[in-house]
Amino acid sequence: MRLAHNIIPMASYSTISMIFLSFALFVFPTFERASCAAAFTNATCIEREREALLEFKRGLVDNSNLLSSWVGDDCCSWKGVRCSKRTGRVQKLDLRSPCVVSTYFINAPLGAFLKPGNCTLTGHIHPSLIELQHLNYLDLSWNNFSRTKIPEFLGTLSNLVYLNLSNSFFAGDIPLHLGNLSNLQYLDLTNFRDIYDFFLHPSGFSTVNNLEWLSGLPSLKHLD
Ligand SMILES: *[C@@H]1O[C@H](CO)[C@@H](O)[C@H](O)[C@H]1NC(C)=O
Ligand SMILES: *[C@@H]1O[C@H](CO)[C@@H](O)[C@H](O)[C@H]1NC(C)=O
Ligand SMILES: *[C@@H]1O[C@H](CO)[C@@H](O)[C@H](O)[C@H]1NC(C)=O
Ligand SMILES: *[C@@H]1O[C@H](CO)[C@@H](O)[C@H](O)[C@H]1NC(C)=O
Ligand SMILES: *[C@@H]1O[C@H](CO)[C@@H](O)[C@H](O)[C@H]1NC(C)=O
Repeated sequence: MRLAHNIIPMASYSTISMIFLSFALFVFPTFERASCAAAFTNATCIEREREALLEFKRGLVDNSNLLSSWVGDDCCSWKGVRCSKRTGRVQKLDLRSPCVVSTYFINAPLGAFLKPGNCTLTGHIHPSLIELQHLNYLDLSWNNFSRTKIPEFLGTLSNLVYLNLSNSFFAGDIPLHLGNLSNLQYLDLTNFRDIYDFFLHPSGFSTVNNLEWLSGLPSLKHLD
């Protein structure tokens, strides 16, 4: 009797274990997947960074409709914007004009290639970009910043690894502040304006008065 009395709880104990085990086999993988997904969500846009991007957009004239997808909450899904999947921070801003020409003939007016006004962002670069402190890639090449100076505040985007401002109608001195970008590996300030443009605007180019600031760029691998 005693024995039998003991066996029954044993049996039900092992049944319970079995049930628990099969429950675990079914449920745990699902649970694990769910918690993994929670830990590595496609984190959506940080509100402050979204505001900064919209402010930046407001400073620009977008005849090319490059920024037409820049609406709604999730700035990480906007065209040209790439965020960290883990943190949701904006890491990449690729606003290269869609009208880059691969071969360029120095004796033809650049405007003939760029179809003035329709192919480029114009306007000014709003300092709200400073908010994007995790930005490591910025490409504004082949746009038209109307012979303004390269903004000094770009020098505060200290995580930049890649900065491409080539052929974007920047003029004046290249700000020494770019020398603060100690993580920069690629810097492209190429400015091959066409020859007509050069005669029309002899001072309408970015110029370098000294190269000392380059010494602040220990990571630099590529310079144009
Ligand atoms: C993350 O994004 C990918 C592709 O956009 C999608 O397949 C996946 O379901 C998303 N995961 C979560 C947790 O939202
Ligand atoms: C620019 O686009 C507008 C309409 O979007 C068009 O009417 C105009 O002809 C275009 N200009 C050039 C130079 O392509
Ligand atoms: C650049 O923008 C200025 C106005 O801001 C305009 O006069 C000029 O034609 C534009 N150049 C090109 C190539 O689009
Ligand atoms: C910068 O952008 C232009 C096109 O807009 C491209 O041809 C060039 O290779 C880029 N520079 C670097 C260093 O990637
Ligand atoms: C960045 O560089 C400029 C000029 O080289 C300098 O005046 C400024 O103090 C620097 N800013 C920081 C935050 O290091």
